[in-house]
Amino acid sequence: MKDIRKIHDTAREKNIPVMKNSGMSFLLDYIRDHENIRDILECGTAVGYSAIRMAMVRWDMTVDTLETDPGMYEQACRNIREFHLEDRIHPYLCDAALFETRKIYDLVFVDAAKSQYQRYLEHFYNNTVPGSVFIFDNLSFHGIVDDPELSHNRSTVQMTRKILKFRDRLLKDDRFETVYYPDLGDGVAVSKRIK
Ligand SMILES: C[S@@+](CC[C@H](N)C(=O)[O-])C[C@H]1O[C@@H](n2cnc3c(N)ncnc32)[C@H](O)[C@@H]1O
Repeated sequence: MKDIRKIHDTAREKNIPVMKNSGMSFLLDYIRDHENIRDILECGTAVGYSAIRMAMVRWDMTVDTLETDPGMYEQACRNIREFHLEDRIHPYLCDAALFETRKIYDLVFVDAAKSQYQRYLEHFYNNTVPGSVFIFDNLSFHGIVDDPELSHNRSTVQMTRKILKFRDRLLKDDRFETVYYPDLGDGVAVSKRIK
């Protein structure tokens, strides 16, 4: 069996933005501490690193994971097979905003196109119930969301403006109880559905 750290290190060497260690540890601890979490939806598979880590927390959990990039998707499928997790991790090659299912998820982990987070939230709202949780990564985007002067790239700054708008809206959204952790990973929010 492959070493999970190898997937992480190889991805990082290739500049594939797999979740940072502190964010990953938080996410795994959260799943460990909430034994009701069985069915997970992940937006943004990349090479399957976070999906594999999540599925390894408990043997009875399933992860549906969505990815648009065919190369990433193929690599994720290979990695999932190497860990013999193909029965529990189901990768889909598709745009997360277009994925349709009637399944109800306990946890939706959002780590795909940053400018689309509000769209994903609304799109998958009906695939959750009160008590389900959304977890969003990259809400700080290397600090640029709170300090746009850190970037001189116009499209990055435009994207971080969208993240800020989403973050502000999420914190006020009374359908959820949201806690934002700016220093975890790349800025992580946990939103528990209460309505
Ligand atoms: C930050 S990476 C995911 C990292 C992964 N969750 C991990 O930590 O191992 C984001 C991924 O989302 C994918 N992506 C971007 N837009 C997407 C979309 N609309 N639907 C699904 N996946 C998307 C990208 O191709 C990229 O592989």
